Amino acid sequence: MRDQAEKLRQLIIESKEKKNNPIYNGDNVIIDKTRVVAVTSGKGGVGKTNFSINLGISLSKLGYKVLVFDADLGLANIDVILGIIPKYTIADILNSDKDILDIITEGPNGIKLIAGGSGIKELINIDSEKLENLVYQLQKLENHVDFIIIDTGAGLSETVLNFVNSSDEVILITTPEPTSLTDVYAMIKTLKINGGERKLSVVINKVENSVEADEVFERLSKVSSKFLNTKIEKLGHLNNSKLVMQSVKNQNPLVLLYPNSSIAKKINGIALKICKNKHNSSHESNITNFLNKFKSLFTKEGI
Ligand SMILES: Nc1ncnc2c1ncn2[C@@H]1O[C@H](COP(=O)(O)OP(=O)(O)OP(=O)(O)O)[C@@H](O)[C@H]1O
Ligand SMILES: [Mg+2]
Repeated sequence: MRDQAEKLRQLIIESKEKKNNPIYNGDNVIIDKTRVVAVTSGKGGVGKTNFSINLGISLSKLGYKVLVFDADLGLANIDVILGIIPKYTIADILNSDKDILDIITEGPNGIKLIAGGSGIKELINIDSEKLENLVYQLQKLENHVDFIIIDTGAGLSETVLNFVNSSDEVILITTPEPTSLTDVYAMIKTLKINGGERKLSVVINKVENSVEADEVFERLSKVSSKFLNTKIEKLGHLNNSKLVMQSVKNQNPLVLLYPNSSIAKKINGIALKICKNKHNSSHESNITNFLNKFKSLFTKEGI
């Protein structure tokens, strides 16, 4: 075990040395640390997976290296939307000596995919040696990607909360439906109680128009501020659009299939906002922070 800890330290040193090649895009947004962004929701079926993939592709179009991690316990998420069946999952790291770089599947437009698969369920009772190895493997991603987007399951299960609480950046997806709003409020409350301070951004999905999106956001923002003393940021909204279903049917992500549609442009706008947000923020978020929290949350003894 001491051996592995030493290897991990070495890896961190190497990754810092290798990251001397920052990425630039048209707006001179520089990323020299891997950013971990969790996409989550209270209620299921609100659009997390579609958003995660399309956001990932938009970021990759901006020139960033992106990995989308399917951390949903359920079956057939990203695979169905993309028509790609990953050969390996996180379970192959937990139960064999596979290297993380060997379990990555190439996705559209150069994005990388990792499927959690049955490995996500195993995390709850994971022993410390397996957890240590998983963390060691995940740390390697620092050398390879600028963004890790975690598509979590819905709701307040322990696994979902551990992923979300480990991430410095959280994007909450909700629709205008009252049930979705109530559930996302419950999620904000839980994160406030358990997770402390962090940036919470909201995307209102499946709206009829921007007026509806603004109204929904204002309501959520008011109650979060008044009752939870929590500030949320509006990252954007996406209209209810037939094109989403069309792209799923075609197993071709919307931002690639309909790049000039207004919904694709909105997703691109959100991607750019995410990059700029970070640029203006002094808060350092990176994979090492993520993994430290991840390890302590999944360690049975806790912190
Ligand atoms: N903006 C949108 N307009 C119309 N339909 C949408 C939109 N976003 C998502 N959908 C549809 O909503 C359904 C759920 O989407 P998705 O699978 O992305 O949600 P999810 O939150 O990941 O679900 P789960 O909680 O089951 O993982 C899909 O049928 C998808 O086509
Ligand atoms: Mg999903």
